[in-house]
Amino acid sequence: MFLRKGVIAATGLFLCIFLIVHLSANAILLLPEETARGLYNTYSTTLRESPLIKIVAYLLYASIIFHVVYAVIVTIKNRRAKPNKYAVNHKLENSTWTSQNMGLIGIFILLFIVIHLANFWAKVKLGLGESVGLDMDGNVDVYQITYSLFQNIYYVLFYTVLMVPLGLHLNHGLKSAFRTLGFYHRKGLRVLTNVSLVYAAIISVGFGIIPLIVYFK
Ligand code: HEM
Repeated sequence: MFLRKGVIAATGLFLCIFLIVHLSANAILLLPEETARGLYNTYSTTLRESPLIKIVAYLLYASIIFHVVYAVIVTIKNRRAKPNKYAVNHKLENSTWTSQNMGLIGIFILLFIVIHLANFWAKVKLGLGESVGLDMDGNVDVYQITYSLFQNIYYVLFYTVLMVPLGLHLNHGLKSAFRTLGFYHRKGLRVLTNVSLVYAAIISVGFGIIPLIVYFK
């Protein structure tokens, strides 16, 4: 069991680092267009062409897959271990709604990632869907793809609303990951609780407002 939880924790922490980098890159979208288009498209091209970043990207895909697969296994095993959990409800006093519903929240995040990859990754990396234009430097115009997508209010709402389950998941997940990996220090746990909250707020609010700002720009 520890090995499975350890895999969830380690891959989860790696995904947390990815989200900081990804949010910083996407913040470029908020700069004035003359600067943002070139910078965003160059960043995206570098991601696709650098051999080192390609290795990191494969690690990222593997982390997402292992994180989800092991989370499903642990959830199923936990349910089997508590077959009569609805007969008498012995919830731990400190267990929150989020900790009880990590599976459900995870499904929303998975749905987000699948649609998100279809919106960008499938177009940019696999060349699927309508043909993608080039910018003045000859880079794939990912900036344009993003701005076009966020002219559609349904996508804007989808990208913004789904950041709520992401925030809840990160807030609980970051704390749990450190505890699983052996972080039990009393005072440290209090600091960790605050760090998790601030991290989750920055990531979810940061990603959530970008589509709104692009839409109303
Ligand atoms: C404002 C919100 C977001 C925007 C505008 C955005 C934009 C993008 C773009 C343009 C790409 C393609 C990168 C490229 O190859 O050029 C991408 C890839 C990706 N995004 Fe996002 N993203 C957003 C939020 C998120 C969130 C919240 C997550 C995770 C929960 C996420 C996970 C990913 C993953 C896993 C990839 C594939 C990375 C790769 O292949 O290197 N994104 N995103």
